[in-house]
Amino acid sequence: MNAIFKRRSVRSYTDRPVSGEDIHDLLHAGMSAPTANNARPWQFIVVTDKEILEKMPMDNYTLGVKGAQAAIVVCGDTEKDVMKGALNVIDCSAATENILVEAADKGLGSVWYAAYPMEDRIKHIRELFSLPENIVPYAVLPIGWPEKETEVQDRFDAAMVHENRW
Ligand SMILES: Cc1cc2nc3c(=O)[nH]c(=O)nc-3n(C[C@H](O)[C@H](O)[C@H](O)COP(=O)(O)O)c2cc1C
Repeated sequence: MNAIFKRRSVRSYTDRPVSGEDIHDLLHAGMSAPTANNARPWQFIVVTDKEILEKMPMDNYTLGVKGAQAAIVVCGDTEKDVMKGALNVIDCSAATENILVEAADKGLGSVWYAAYPMEDRIKHIRELFSLPENIVPYAVLPIGWPEKETEVQDRFDAAMVHENRW
């Protein structure tokens, strides 16, 4: 639980390499998420090639991936979704959050760069990786060791909680 509370978005990283074992643990965390009908409709693209990382920013708000040591693209397979993609969004979001929390637990930095539902972002990733038609990129997660410490925030807000009635 501590990892959940300390997780913050990290957008700049040191040159320290990220090990294959760490990447494996992040993927393991992602694949441990719950999914509708236990469909596990995800596919993950692990990127460590610097030349590809350079090309990955989808726009000016996702530039951080250029300086990362690695990135994970969380994708969904619409052919595994009985609701034609609607459930994939939820399932892949659960996997994404698991990866972010596991990264925080390891002291690694990451940030959720959503591709979906922005058509221009989806197109960029789709073209860069020549994705098949049934594979939709949902999120790009840069991975690296944080350049600076992030501030832990307590975001519990009792005003957002409704007891027994609205
Ligand atoms: C669906 C989604 C899309 C996001 N897209 C971006 C993005 O395009 N660029 C970015 O820098 N951060 C993006 N973020 C990260 C949010 O800005 C960040 O989570 C939020 O400001 C809260 O900060 P924290 O993650 O440090 O708690 C996104 C987060 C989510 C959940």
